[in-house]
Amino acid sequence: MKLAERVTQLSPSPTMAVDAKAKALAAQGRDVVNFGAGEPDFDTPENIRRAACEAVEHGHTRYTAVGGILALKTAIGGRLKLDTGVDYAPEEILVSVGAKHSLYNATMALVSPGDGVLLPVPYWVTYPEQIRLAAGIVQAVDIAPEHQNELIVDDLLRVANAKTKGLILNSPSNPSGAVIRPSYLADIAQLAVERDWFVISDEIYGRLVYDDAEQVSIARYPGMRERTIVINGVSKAYAMTGWRIGYAAGPKEVISAMTNLQSQSTSNPTTISQYAALEAFTGPQEAVGEMHREFDRRRRFAVSRVNAIKGLSVVTPKGAFYLWVNMSPWIGKTVKNRVINSADDLALAWLESADVSVVPGSGFGMPQYFRISYATSLERLSTGLDRMAALLENA
Ligand SMILES: Cc1ncc(COP(=O)(O)O)c(C=O)c1O
Repeated sequence: MKLAERVTQLSPSPTMAVDAKAKALAAQGRDVVNFGAGEPDFDTPENIRRAACEAVEHGHTRYTAVGGILALKTAIGGRLKLDTGVDYAPEEILVSVGAKHSLYNATMALVSPGDGVLLPVPYWVTYPEQIRLAAGIVQAVDIAPEHQNELIVDDLLRVANAKTKGLILNSPSNPSGAVIRPSYLADIAQLAVERDWFVISDEIYGRLVYDDAEQVSIARYPGMRERTIVINGVSKAYAMTGWRIGYAAGPKEVISAMTNLQSQSTSNPTTISQYAALEAFTGPQEAVGEMHREFDRRRRFAVSRVNAIKGLSVVTPKGAFYLWVNMSPWIGKTVKNRVINSADDLALAWLESADVSVVPGSGFGMPQYFRISYATSLERLSTGLDRMAALLENA
């Protein structure tokens, strides 16, 4: 059968590909330390799990409104007020099957064929593929190295042109962990207003910021509420990746178009998960703080260990749960009889000869970097980093 062009051009998610390979080796009995996962290693908090069981017992097992139950949208509105400082009414909110689905709906609703979309590098692997599915043009934006992964308005100005219709922002960033400071965001917002761009602002890691970093949504700047789609969800902050609940908030007409799209594809996100998410937002929040503290401990530990490994360096990330590691000193060298041309080769060497899996940066637009997820125990972090160091010390 002949496949449609749009799927033949689609790359499978490289983060999931590495994860699959690591799991396959583990299934053969190898003790693989997996730094590839993009999800918290904690269980979903008990009160949330219980709410899901109660939802089933109370018969909440049928379709709901396409965009989610009103109680959940209202709770999300409350959460958004805390996170962004902006008021959103239920008709300005759409609940979807994870934040990835919210992003897909937003991209499909806003990007027409030939539209340029600015995408800061490194980007989360899914954005360019979704832009291409909408037949848009990816306008990759390199961040000046002296800004340590933090986007500034001048970076955008170097790439923007007449085709540019919008921008995807992801702060805190996956993979770099960079958090864009408010003064830089203000300049970016001003440019977006001047050029009449839309902004899709993926704030899924917004509750995981560290040190002096301040999480601010671009939606709160003058003229931005009407041109921003805020994306968020329960996956990362509440350790609910498998429940598949994300949401989008923005101008009513865009949310309405996205809801129409969803009505013809998935319909409502799982009813039971919606009740679980309702409990996540309205129940006790202590678990979020506990997970945050643990991530922070691991972050500090992992940064100092990685920076002590021969030829590797990392800028201390201020958000999310990843390290974005520069391995460029290894380019052209040989490790375990393998010539290293990019982080892909180094990742393969670690996986095959040291039983550690990391995600190479090629899928994120920077092949001389790789990503370590520190969403794993301190003990496993220590074991994995020791193995990685040993392979390079002996190379
Ligand atoms: C930046 C970013 N946005 C969105 C998502 C998707 O989250 P969800 O599990 O809610 O679909 C991820 C998950 O890895 C992510 O890293």
